[in-house]
Amino acid sequence: MLGESYIYRDRTLYCESVALDDIVSRLGTPCYVYSAGSILGRFNAYHSAFDATPHMICYAVKANSNLEILRLLAEAGSGFDIVSGGELYRVMKAGGSPSKVVFSGVGKTAEEIAYAIDNDIHCFNCESASELVLIDSIAARHRNRVRVAFRVNPDIEAKTHPYISTGLREHKFGIDFEEAEAVYQRALSFSHVVPESLSCHIGSQLLDTGPILEALDKMLDLVDRLRAGGVPIKTLDLGGGLGVAYQDGDVAPPIPDFIREMCRRAATRNLEVHIEPGRSIVGASGVLLTRVLYRKRTGEKEFVVVDAAMNDLLRPALYKAHHSIVPLREAPERGAIVADVVGPVCETGDFLARDRSIANLLPGDLLAICTTGAYGFVLASNYNSRLRPPEVLVDGAGWRIIRARETYGDLIQEEI
Ligand code: LLP
Repeated sequence: MLGESYIYRDRTLYCESVALDDIVSRLGTPCYVYSAGSILGRFNAYHSAFDATPHMICYAVKANSNLEILRLLAEAGSGFDIVSGGELYRVMKAGGSPSKVVFSGVGKTAEEIAYAIDNDIHCFNCESASELVLIDSIAARHRNRVRVAFRVNPDIEAKTHPYISTGLREHKFGIDFEEAEAVYQRALSFSHVVPESLSCHIGSQLLDTGPILEALDKMLDLVDRLRAGGVPIKTLDLGGGLGVAYQDGDVAPPIPDFIREMCRRAATRNLEVHIEPGRSIVGASGVLLTRVLYRKRTGEKEFVVVDAAMNDLLRPALYKAHHSIVPLREAPERGAIVADVVGPVCETGDFLARDRSIANLLPGDLLAICTTGAYGFVLASNYNSRLRPPEVLVDGAGWRIIRARETYGDLIQEEI
C-alpha cells in the first residue's frame, strides 16, 4: 500500500516530486524517507474536522520522534503526547510548547515528573493512585499545582494485535473503570493536583472505530457521574489508535468522519476534546528504502536478501506486521516470485516479509518498504553493530537529511 504522497511516474517511484532513486544515489541504503505533505495533510484533516469544538491534538511522539517532524507539527499548531523525559526534551528542542504537552505512561519516574513540572506541561495522564501521590508530593516541593487526568481503562476489546491492545482490565494500563470515581474523589483531597481531565486509550492500529466510540460513550457517562460528584471535569482525552492501511483490503477509517462522530457524541457535555494520534499522522508518510544484496534458495524456499533488517524495522519480527514492498523502478516484464524478504541480521526472526508475492528481483534492485513512518526508525537499534539509517524529509520538489546515517564511531562513542 503506497501512502498518498507516493506515485509511479514513468515507472519510477516518487515521493511528492522527488524520485526516490535520486535520494538513494546521494545517501545509499537503507534510508528512511518521509513526506512532509502527507504528515501535514493528516494533521490538518484532524484539525479541520474538529471545527468549532474546543480541542487539542497531541501528536504521540513515540510514533516518530525526529526533531524535524516534531518541528513541522509544532509549527502547524500541534500539542504532544509524551511518555518519557526524553520525549519532553525532544519536544522542547523542536520548538514545541510544554503548555500543550500531556504526559502519559504507566511508569513515570520521580525525576521525569519533576522535569515535567519544572517545564509547566499541560497535564499528567496518571495511571495509578500511587503515581498521583508522587505527583502531588513533587508538585508541593515545587510549590506548584498541576493538572491531572486519570487514564481510565474502559475494559473494551480493541480488535487489534494483542501487543498493541491496551484497554482491557487484564492490561497494565490505566485504572479500573469501577474505581474511577473513588480515585477522583481522593484526588480532590490533595492540594497540589487539579483533577480536571479524564483520559483513555484502548489500543493502536484500529481499523474499526466501533470500540473507540464505545469507549467514548462510557467515558461520557463517567464524565456525568464525576461532575455530579463534584469533580470539575473540563477535558476528555481519547488517546490515539486510528489505524492506517498496510495492505490491500485494509480500509483505514477516514479521519474527518471519525472526529465528526466523536464531536457529535460529546457535543452536549461542554468539554474540550483531546486526542493523541501517532500512527495515523505519520505512518503512511514514510518508506524505508533498501537494496537487494542477493537471491538465494534453500530447499523449497526462495529468499531475497536485502540490506535493511529487523534492527532498522522491527515491526515484522515483533508483530508479524505486514508492510508492502515495492520496487523503485517497475519492471513488470520480469514477472513475479514468491519469496521471504530477509535482512543480514543473525536471527531467523529477521524477516521483512514472508511468503510474499513480489517482483522477480535481482541483486542491486532498489525497494521501498511502505508505510514505515510510524514505529519504524524509533524502534531501530544497533543490533549486530549495524548503523542506524539516515532519515530524509521530502517537501514538494526538495528534500533534506533530518538525521545522518550513523558512523562506526557513533557505535562506540559512549563506551570510550
Ligand atoms: N496514546 C497512548 C497513551 C498510547 O499508548 C499510544 C500508543 C498512542 C497514544 C498513539 O497511538 P497510535 O495513534 O499511534 O495508534 N509499536 C506498535 C505500536 C505501539 C503503540 C503504543 N501506544 C506498532 O508498531 O504497531
